[in-house]
Amino acid sequence: MSAPAAVLAGLGGYVPPRTVTNEELSHRMDTSDAWIVQRTGIRQRHWADPGVATSDLAVEAGHRALKSVGALAPHDVGMVVVATTTPDQQCPSVAPDVASRLGLGTIAALDVAAGCSGFVYALATASAALVAGHAEWVLVIGAETFHPFLNPADRGTAVIFGDGAGAVVLRRGTADEAGAVLTVDLGSDGSLKDLVGIPGNGSRHRSAARPHHADERYLYMNGKEIFPHAVRRMAQSSSAALAQAGWSVDEVDHVVGHQANLRILHALAQHLGVDKERVVAHLDQVGNTSAASIPLALADAAAKGRFQLHDRLLLTAFGAGLTWGSAALTWPGTALA
Ligand code: UT7
Repeated sequence: MSAPAAVLAGLGGYVPPRTVTNEELSHRMDTSDAWIVQRTGIRQRHWADPGVATSDLAVEAGHRALKSVGALAPHDVGMVVVATTTPDQQCPSVAPDVASRLGLGTIAALDVAAGCSGFVYALATASAALVAGHAEWVLVIGAETFHPFLNPADRGTAVIFGDGAGAVVLRRGTADEAGAVLTVDLGSDGSLKDLVGIPGNGSRHRSAARPHHADERYLYMNGKEIFPHAVRRMAQSSSAALAQAGWSVDEVDHVVGHQANLRILHALAQHLGVDKERVVAHLDQVGNTSAASIPLALADAAAKGRFQLHDRLLLTAFGAGLTWGSAALTWPGTALA
């Protein structure tokens, strides 16, 4: 009998309606459509309306993912995991609120904070809970409202990030089923924590006897230094996840990498020895949506009919922490499209 495993059973994505084009940003700051497209591949992103927060996006994506499963009853879901770096508030976490608003009752609910790697970390958390028998069904959501954390004076970040949410429903199944999450590889390097983050508003700053600088409320990113780490760590982690799964790189049908920069995705493909056609790129439409980027890319590609039953997918992500993670899974079929 095959080993227990988390099996992909539902999928949904949501971006807020407001589209912000490169052209619009070029009127607000010293940038251009040509620079953004050439250096990142991003053409537009979505920003939530005033007053809309991460839980609102998470509820929309979660609702769509649950609906995609069809016969699933709300009381079947035993856990909600929300990956986010931009929660509605410092405390409480957003997952209990999301579970309640989705009508899922008084179930286990937690946030996972692992920057742009958050979705893969949440997937690992959910898979472990399913395999351990803590739940039969788990809703995993990656959700971010990044634009209020962007410094309008920092064109290196202001043109990159967008808002959105993506969600998957996982059920307890077996590793031989289509849709099974076969392996997950996770890692971190806290010695490089200062390369990207939102330093203000944590206990370090609250306890410091000095006034806060206004910029500390905003996302800081040393993009140039992070770039090679992103490529190297995602490549290493991908290789580890594939080795555990017993797959060669040639057997991977689709690489769904963190959507930070098209140049990073292409460099990753080159490191892995995968042709660009197998790389899923969705960032032109949504920018870097951090923990939401992989499930949003999955939802978009599935809706376009890109994945076929039993296709082999490699997910790989990299972000603040530094953190990284990869997962190998098979595709459960067109029902998810
Ligand atoms: O998601 C979490 C992990 N994050 C990442 O993986 C991000 C990794 N890094 C990147 O994607 C890229 O480093 C960026 C897209 C953030 C920046 O691209 P880059 O090619 O590394 O640009 P750069 O920072 O080296 O800047 C090159 C030039 C500079 O001008 P000078 O000094 O050469 O005159 C910048 O001032 O481009 C300038 N620049 C811009 N120009 C127009 C930087 N941002 C902009 C902009 N518009 N938005």
